[in-house]
Amino acid sequence: MPVKLLKTVLLCAVALAPSLAEAQQRPVYLDTSARIEERIEDALSRMTLDEKIAMIHAQSKFSSPGVPRLGIPELWCTDGPHGIRPEVLWDEWEQAGWTNDSCTAYPALTALAATWNRDMAALYGRSIGAEARYREKDVLLGPGVNIYRTPLGGRNFEYMGEDPYLAGEMAVPYIREVQKQGVAACVKHYALNNEETHRHTVDIDLDDRALYEIYLPAFRKAVVEGGAWSIMGSYNLYRGVHGCHNDRLLNHILKGEWGFDGAVVSDWGGTHSTDEAVTGGLDIEYGTWTDGLTEGAGNAYDEYFMATPYRDAILAGRLTERELDDKVRRVLRLIFRTAMNTDKPFGAMCSEEQTAAARRIGGEGIVLLRNERGTLPISSRRGIRIAVIGENAVKMMTVGGGSSSLKVKHECSPLEGIAARAAACGAEVVYARGYVGDTTGSYNGVETGQNLADSRSEQELIAEAVEAARNADYTIFVGGLNKSANQDSEGTDRLSLDLPYGQDRVIEALAGATDRLVVALVSGNAVAMPWVGGADAIVQTWYLGSEAGNALADVLFGDVTPSGKLPFTFPVRLQDVPAHALSAKFPNDGKTYYHEGIFVGYRGYEHNGTEVLFPFGHGLSYTTFEYGKLRADRKSIGAGETLTLSIDITNTGGRRGSEVVQLYIADPQSSLPRPVKELKGFEKISLEPGQTRTVTFTVDSSALSYYDDRKGEWVAESGEFEALAGSSSADIRARAKFRLK
Ligand code: BGC
Repeated sequence: MPVKLLKTVLLCAVALAPSLAEAQQRPVYLDTSARIEERIEDALSRMTLDEKIAMIHAQSKFSSPGVPRLGIPELWCTDGPHGIRPEVLWDEWEQAGWTNDSCTAYPALTALAATWNRDMAALYGRSIGAEARYREKDVLLGPGVNIYRTPLGGRNFEYMGEDPYLAGEMAVPYIREVQKQGVAACVKHYALNNEETHRHTVDIDLDDRALYEIYLPAFRKAVVEGGAWSIMGSYNLYRGVHGCHNDRLLNHILKGEWGFDGAVVSDWGGTHSTDEAVTGGLDIEYGTWTDGLTEGAGNAYDEYFMATPYRDAILAGRLTERELDDKVRRVLRLIFRTAMNTDKPFGAMCSEEQTAAARRIGGEGIVLLRNERGTLPISSRRGIRIAVIGENAVKMMTVGGGSSSLKVKHECSPLEGIAARAAACGAEVVYARGYVGDTTGSYNGVETGQNLADSRSEQELIAEAVEAARNADYTIFVGGLNKSANQDSEGTDRLSLDLPYGQDRVIEALAGATDRLVVALVSGNAVAMPWVGGADAIVQTWYLGSEAGNALADVLFGDVTPSGKLPFTFPVRLQDVPAHALSAKFPNDGKTYYHEGIFVGYRGYEHNGTEVLFPFGHGLSYTTFEYGKLRADRKSIGAGETLTLSIDITNTGGRRGSEVVQLYIADPQSSLPRPVKELKGFEKISLEPGQTRTVTFTVDSSALSYYDDRKGEWVAESGEFEALAGSSSADIRARAKFRLK
C-alpha cells in the first residue's frame, strides 16, 4: 500500500478507534459533507480548556498538536517559500538526516516576480504545493510579499519586488494553487519587514498613505483575492508593538477591514507577551525561545506565552476564554481546510514535471538588462570557444540564506548548464575562477559537499581569467551575491550596493580583454555597476534553484527568448535610493520612520527626478515589439463604471517572443501629492514574428484612488487621468487621456 494511503487509513483508524460510548457521542469529523463551520462549533463545544490551549501553540519546531481524543490531527508547517525545507529534528533547527526529503528548488520569488506572468505563478504554486502535500505538510510558509524598500535588504530575494500591484497579482495564483493541494499558504511577513539586522527590535512608523498604498496592498490581495488560509506576523514592531501581536495590523486591518477568517501564525520567536499576543490578534504561537525539550522545565513548549501562562491567566480571571475560542476556531478551520481535508490530491515530489516547471519559470524570469550589438544569443556555430568565469558559475546556491535554505535532489550550476548546451552544438568551454568569494557550503547540517578553497592571489586569478577571455569567442562572467551573511541572507542586511570580493576589478579586466563580455548576475538584489559600459551584455539571473544552469543556458543560447522584466529598480548609487536619501541610517535599531512615505522604488526615483541604472519593468528581448495606439472605449467614467483600454502589439523581429505590456496610470492634478505614475495592469503575451495581438485592460476607480489619511479612506478624485502603456516604467509607448466624473 502506498505510504500516503496507509497514512490516511491510519488516520481514519485513529479517528474511529476510541471507546464505543465515546465514539457514539463524537461527530464523524472525516465526513466532508458536513459544513466546516458546523463542525468547528461542534468540535469546540467538546474541547476542554487544556485541549484548546494545546492547540494554539507549538509542540515541536514545526508542528502543533491537534486534539487526539477527538481525532483532530496535528498541524505541520514547512518553509517555504521556494522549496520544501528538509525535515528537522523535533526540537532543533538541525536537519533530521532523512534520506527521502530532498526537494526541487524553485526559483526564488524575485525571479517569479520577474516573469510578470500570472500563469507562471500558478504553475509555481501548483508545483511547490504538490511537494508540500507529498511531504504531508499542512502549511507552507510562503509566499513573502514584503515590499523592496532598499537594495540592502537581506531578504529581498524571498520577496516580489518594489511594486505592491505586481507583488499582489503574482501572489494570488501562487496561493490559490498551493491551497488546491489542501495545503495552506502562509503569507509573510505581515507587515513592514524591510530590514533584517535588527528585525526583532526595529520599530517602524510611517504615514498611513504609505502603509495602505505601498506596504499593505499585496497582503490584502493575498487575503481577499488569493483567499490565504494563514498569515505570518512579522518580527519587527510597528508603532511600538510587535507584528505578531499588533492590534491595529491584525485585529483592525487584517481581521476587521479585510475579513480574514484564517489563522495568524507567529514568526518563529516573534511572540513576546501573553497579554499582547492574546488580545493583539495572534492565533498560534511557534518558535518561542524557551530552552527546548532538553533543558526546559518539563516540556518547554508549555512555557510558551500562549501555553500555561495563558491558561493560568484564564483560570485567574485576568483573560477570558472569548479570545481563546476565536483562536481555536481559526486553528480548527485551518486544520479542516488542510490536515482533515479528505478531498486533497496525493501530491508529488521531484517529478519530471516539477523539474520542468522550475526550468520554465527560471527561463521566463531571467532579465536581459543590456545587449549591445546583438551580443546574445550565443551563436551556435560549431567550434565556438566560450570562457566561463566566476565563482557563482559553480557555487551551489540552494544551501544557505536562512530559513529558505534547501536540501535539493539536484542543482544544475551555471557552468554545468552552459557546458551541456555548448556540447550539444559542438562549442568548447573553459572555466576560470576569477575571484574567491564565499567558500562555505553548509546550513543546519545540509552540506553542499563542494570544496571551493583556492589560495591563489587576486592577481593570479584575474590573469588566468583574462587569458581565458582572450582565447575565447564569448566570455561569460557569472558573479553577483550569494547566500552568506551580509549578502542575500536572512538575519543580516547588505553592507553596500557594490559587488563583493573585488568582482568589479575582474569584470573591468575582462572588458579590456574581449569584445563579447556577458555578465550574468546571480542575486536577489540590485548591485552597482561601475563597469556597465564595458559589458556587452548583462543578464540578471536571480537564484533559480535546481535548474539554474539549464534555465540560464536556455536564454544565453536563444532556446528561450528572454521576456523577464525587473520587479525593482537598479539605482546608480545607494544614496539615490529614496529610503536612503531621506532616512539616514539603514539598518537601524529602535525607532525608524519611513520619511520617503509613498515614494518607494520607481515612485520615488521619478518623483525625485533621479536617473537610474535600469528602471522598474525593464527587460530586453531577442525580438522587437511595436506598440499601436492606446484606445479608450470612452472619454470619461463615473463612479462604479469601468474604462476599457486596448492596444495592438506586433512582433516586428525575427523570432517568437513574449512581451510584458505594462499599464501605468498618472493623476496629474490631485489635492495630495501622488507618484508620477503607478502600475495598475500588465499582460504578458507571446507573439510569432509578424503577429499582432490586442491587449485589453479594464480600469475602475480603484486604480485611480489614493488613500486619504485625513479621512481614513480610499478616494478617487474627479478630473483628468492619463493611461500609459509601456515596455518598462521608463519606456512608455502610448498614452490615452480620460476623465473621472
Ligand atoms: C523566518 C520565517 C520562517 C521561520 C521558520 C523565521 O526565522 O523569519 O520566514 O518561516 O523562521 O523557519
